[in-house]
Amino acid sequence: MAHRKQHDLQIAIDGPAGAGKSTVAKLVAKGLNLFYVDTGAMYRAIAYKALSSRIPINDEEQVSQIAQRTEVMLDHSDERLVWCDGQNVTQAIRNPEVSRAVATVAAYAKVRERLVELQRVEAARGGVVMDGRDIGTHVLPEADLKIFLTASADERARRRWIELRNSGRNVSIEEVAQDMERRDRQDMEREVSPLEPARDAKILDTTGLKVEDIVTEILRLAQEG
Ligand code: CDP
Repeated sequence: MAHRKQHDLQIAIDGPAGAGKSTVAKLVAKGLNLFYVDTGAMYRAIAYKALSSRIPINDEEQVSQIAQRTEVMLDHSDERLVWCDGQNVTQAIRNPEVSRAVATVAAYAKVRERLVELQRVEAARGGVVMDGRDIGTHVLPEADLKIFLTASADERARRRWIELRNSGRNVSIEEVAQDMERRDRQDMEREVSPLEPARDAKILDTTGLKVEDIVTEILRLAQEG
């Protein structure tokens, strides 16, 4: 593989909501014995913190201050807990309220600056599979392998709906589809590091594909170098 040893490999996986990034990234990380870093969880943690501090999400100044002060930590145990100022927010950051607020928070330059800094610190600790929206374009522009995962809007909404139902949340598929579409639009249209494939990214459309086939393909690409 390229110029790094396997334990220092950097794999960037970007794409819209519900494309299967985190499921795939976790398995690729396991297969190659690398850390998995879920950067979306970090943006969610800041959105959660702002909401629970009763700060208006549209107040860029105040939300940016929260981002400077908040300590976000991802643990690398099998449970992959997310900590926000010492509080376990693993479940809370998946709430629909957070999902609706997160893209607004993620559009703020100072919020991104702070989290990108933390993400690069994570990457400096060793090899990583990092998933998000701007990993290949901005966070790890020198990554050994860049994947842009997509799937049809219908399939992405269905996947997310099943995930939410399985975690006991009673939402309609239309609601999920609408929220997702709005969030993707916000992510693509923002000025700072919008969601887009890196020029050297490999685009994988996962519509109709099984998770194991996508993982096998990425592992193959990683070995190919
Ligand atoms: O898992 P899901 O596709 O729902 O999203 P996520 O990865 O948890 O990311 C939540 C949100 O955080 C995204 O919709 C983006 O607004 C933001 N995000 C970002 O801007 N940049 C990243 N590298 C990762 C997430």
